[in-house]
Amino acid sequence: MRTQVAIVGAGPAGMVLAHLLHAAGIASVVVERRTRDYVEGRVRAGVLEQGTVDVLARLGLDGRLRSEGLVHTGANLAVDGASFRIDMAALTGAAVTVYGQQEVMRDLFDAGEARGLAVVYEAQDLRLHDLDGAAPSLTYRTPEGPQHLVCDYVAGCDGFHGTSRRSIPADVLRTFERIYPFGWLGILTDVPPAAHELVYASHANGFALASMRSATRSRYYIQCGIDERPEDWPDTRFWDELCLRLGPGTAGGIVRGPAFEKSIAPLRSFVGEPMRWGRLFLAGDAAHIVPPTGAKGLNLAVSDVVMLAEALEAFYAHGTSSGLDGYSARALARVWKAERFSWWFTRLMHRFPEETGFDRRMQLAELAYLGTSRAAQTVLAENYVGLPLDPPPVSTSVAASLSAPSANLRGMCP
Ligand code: APR
Ligand code: PHB
Repeated sequence: MRTQVAIVGAGPAGMVLAHLLHAAGIASVVVERRTRDYVEGRVRAGVLEQGTVDVLARLGLDGRLRSEGLVHTGANLAVDGASFRIDMAALTGAAVTVYGQQEVMRDLFDAGEARGLAVVYEAQDLRLHDLDGAAPSLTYRTPEGPQHLVCDYVAGCDGFHGTSRRSIPADVLRTFERIYPFGWLGILTDVPPAAHELVYASHANGFALASMRSATRSRYYIQCGIDERPEDWPDTRFWDELCLRLGPGTAGGIVRGPAFEKSIAPLRSFVGEPMRWGRLFLAGDAAHIVPPTGAKGLNLAVSDVVMLAEALEAFYAHGTSSGLDGYSARALARVWKAERFSWWFTRLMHRFPEETGFDRRMQLAELAYLGTSRAAQTVLAENYVGLPLDPPPVSTSVAASLSAPSANLRGMCP
């Protein structure tokens, strides 16, 4: 079998890429190890940046998203029980949309079937060949037998544990990692959310988050030890601790219900560089992981594949490979900023086992500053709603102000 772009992995990165390429008239085959039900069933975050919503709209995938997604123009921060709101829309002109990754996947798969996208499920023993040659290929096994897929390019969208990144020679790949000394214990429950918008809480006992999937489904998290197990947290203990950390204002709105999903996720920051080797291009979790504070994982996967699709389109439409050559640097420029934000927000909101009284005072001072400074809130808000793909440098305006000094500066000049 032959195609133009072989896509490894049918998560958000792989499926959004397949749709983008289809829209550009580029043939692809998505090769996924699991079943559709398995991929769609994975519970992940559910906050879409404005740019992600725009991409899904451009692809005609926003029907349900528009009717069922919850547009949030702000979010709340709670500090030892007292909360304040950050008005993202007023500060940035943009909003986020709460729409679970499971719903995004369902829309991607349904439209993929309707549009005839080629997705191979249950592909076992995937191997990548000749990635640094002119005709790379994939081999794998399906229930029908061994398969061989020859292509022009391979998109490695197979997540953190996939094979793509590991195919890059060790002397080429550089990795950067931070593992956090705690986890997130999360539950899903079919009760109305405690608050209209998300509440991120920093409490002496640790972080907590009140989130949601819809007007009738809530998603709650609390920071827990990495060695703890969900069984250590019977529902009553979870609810009591959650209410304490969120504070009386939010806790007053909590409706307790049975948790039908309860799991603990570790927190990690990770980046692999470069995101291209030969004819292999990494995108999404295959190249980078962020801790969930700020919900950047899915959004980063989408911005990566938008950049990759643009580069592939330029190649197939005009024969120019500068986009492909520049993909890794362009994607990493945005990735590192999202890594920084996710790391900063994680560090600000969690209790660390090794922290000192001074460290906690610094967190509290920064949170107090955030509560009263429009500038500080704008920094948080513009990162939260999503940074532009290619922000223009501000240095030009600095240069302009230097060449035309302000009245104050003029007055100070000798
Ligand atoms: N062969 C084929 N498919 C594979 C292989 C393999 N060897 N290894 C992994 N995969 C598949 C996985 O089964 C999974 O469906 O690749 C897919 C990768 O999907 P994700 O892990 O969701 O990664 P990505 O598409 O980059 O999405 C990133 O989504 O899952 C969240 O937390 C994640 O928010 C982040 C975003
Ligand atoms: C979620 O709803 O799962 C969620 C929301 C916001 C986050 C992380 C997770 O920052």
